[in-house]
Amino acid sequence: MTHNGSDIAAPALAVAYQSGFGHTAVLADAVAAGAREVGADVTVIAVDRMTETDWDVLDGADGIVFGSATYMGNVSAGFQAFAEKTGRRCVEGTWRDKTAAGFTNSGAKSGDKLGTLMSLAVFAAQHHMHWVNLGLPPGWNSSRGSESDLNRLGFWLGAGAQTDVDAGTDRVHAADIQTCRHLGARVALVTRQLNIGRSATSAESSPAASSAPTR
Ligand SMILES: Cc1cc2nc3c(=O)[nH]c(=O)nc-3n(C[C@H](O)[C@H](O)[C@H](O)COP(=O)(O)O)c2cc1C
Repeated sequence: MTHNGSDIAAPALAVAYQSGFGHTAVLADAVAAGAREVGADVTVIAVDRMTETDWDVLDGADGIVFGSATYMGNVSAGFQAFAEKTGRRCVEGTWRDKTAAGFTNSGAKSGDKLGTLMSLAVFAAQHHMHWVNLGLPPGWNSSRGSESDLNRLGFWLGAGAQTDVDAGTDRVHAADIQTCRHLGARVALVTRQLNIGRSATSAESSPAASSAPTR
């Protein structure tokens, strides 16, 4: 079965991220790995180094997972510069009805990351995209929990990770990597479900549409 000319079982996803020091880049790769594990065709794009081909990939994707480092309690200036370049697409509805989700990384355990995830969700909403939440219970929130739990920092809106500001990219927390893998897989599955639903409803509605009375 196909949708948009591509295999319905393999939705086309893009991970569009900005990372100043490489921590968020590690998470972007984890999101991509999770989505690939469930059959998605994924392209990872650094939004501060975009080519024309990258823009075409975003425009053609069934869903886009946005990621940004948290700087000053919000998305980074690099991510926002990318967001502002999408104004024409926003007006024209180029990304309308694609799925979307988000992830971020900060230096502090909280670090006001919620501000970043909310900015990503609003950005997606302005594009009329369907936001997919994290879909995990909070981890590390009882005496039986630990920092190795999935969603150890307890976010619902998206994936929130923390890396010490003086740590290398090899020290991005394993639980945060797994949480981002989960997010990637979840977005891929939801996107697949949407594609299948769209394909079924367009097949259903075609005969009725052609026999509808005309005025
Ligand atoms: C300009 C700037 C602003 C930052 N603001 C925050 C912040 O608001 N909250 C926080 O916890 N960490 C903050 N940090 C730390 C980064 O979030 C942290 O180093 C993160 O790992 C960077 O991710 P990256 O390697 O993907 O760039 C800031 C870092 C910079 C350079």
